[in-house]
Amino acid sequence: MAPGSSTGLLRHPTLAGDRPPETTSERLVLALRDVAKTYPNGRAALRDVNLTVPEGDFVFLVGPSGAGKTTLIKLLIRDELATAGQVLLDGQDLGRLPRRQVPRVRRKVGIVFQDYKLLPRKSVWENVAFALEVTGTPGRRIGPAVDRVLRLVGLAAQARQLPTQLSGGEQQRTAIARALVHDPRLIIADEPTGNLDPLISWEIIQLLLRINEMGTTVLMATHNAEVVTALRKRVVGLEDGRVVRDEVGGAYHRED
Ligand SMILES: Nc1ncnc2c1ncn2[C@@H]1O[C@H](COP(=O)(O)OP(=O)(O)O)[C@@H](O)[C@H]1O
Ligand SMILES: [Mg+2]
Repeated sequence: MAPGSSTGLLRHPTLAGDRPPETTSERLVLALRDVAKTYPNGRAALRDVNLTVPEGDFVFLVGPSGAGKTTLIKLLIRDELATAGQVLLDGQDLGRLPRRQVPRVRRKVGIVFQDYKLLPRKSVWENVAFALEVTGTPGRRIGPAVDRVLRLVGLAAQARQLPTQLSGGEQQRTAIARALVHDPRLIIADEPTGNLDPLISWEIIQLLLRINEMGTTVLMATHNAEVVTALRKRVVGLEDGRVVRDEVGGAYHRED
């Protein structure tokens, strides 16, 4: 396929056997086809991974520590390249993307980490604005975009505070605002509630659900069994680098 050419509307593949039929013609934000990832030290972190995520989905990625969740996420943001198979983001094959197109495609994904990764000397407002500055967004567009996402995550009043002056939940909401400011197709969160107590974790999940309801696709790796089981969203289970479960309305633990 020529660089940048995309069919746009991908037909839902037969690979995703247990997806409900009504999603078959939806646009796919993500498609992994026979993906494997072996690290240079020989460790096989992912094997035979097939996964499709239609636009608007909310997906929990679960599995024991070492199962390959973070590796899968790294492939999606092109932090690592698959050693076999294809990773398609919004129809574009990340493994065949010309280098100059990487920044544009990466902006389709907003990422949120367990440890927030905020810049300590910048305020909430500056942390979010910085994500736009580094991608060359015109100055006049930055202010309104930052204000909008800070309102969305409920941090307008904390805009001038430094990360050290925030609670853990507020730091994570800052990170979510930063992930959202490019108006991404997909938000990926890697254990976003891993450092938060249960009540604050629920607030973060509610925020991600609201963002999802507004139309952004969400993929969240988590160990938070209570949240996964309560929400009955799609659950993709990884074990030892393989997808062992892909269930709509699933619980944290397999129920069969
Ligand atoms: N950079 C790396 N080099 C070698 N092995 C790695 C690297 N990153 C992760 N791994 C290994 O790959 C496997 C999957 O890890 P990871 O994707 O972090 O799993 P999870 O996020 O589910 O805990 C583990 O065995 C881990 O030790
Ligand atoms: Mg991990």
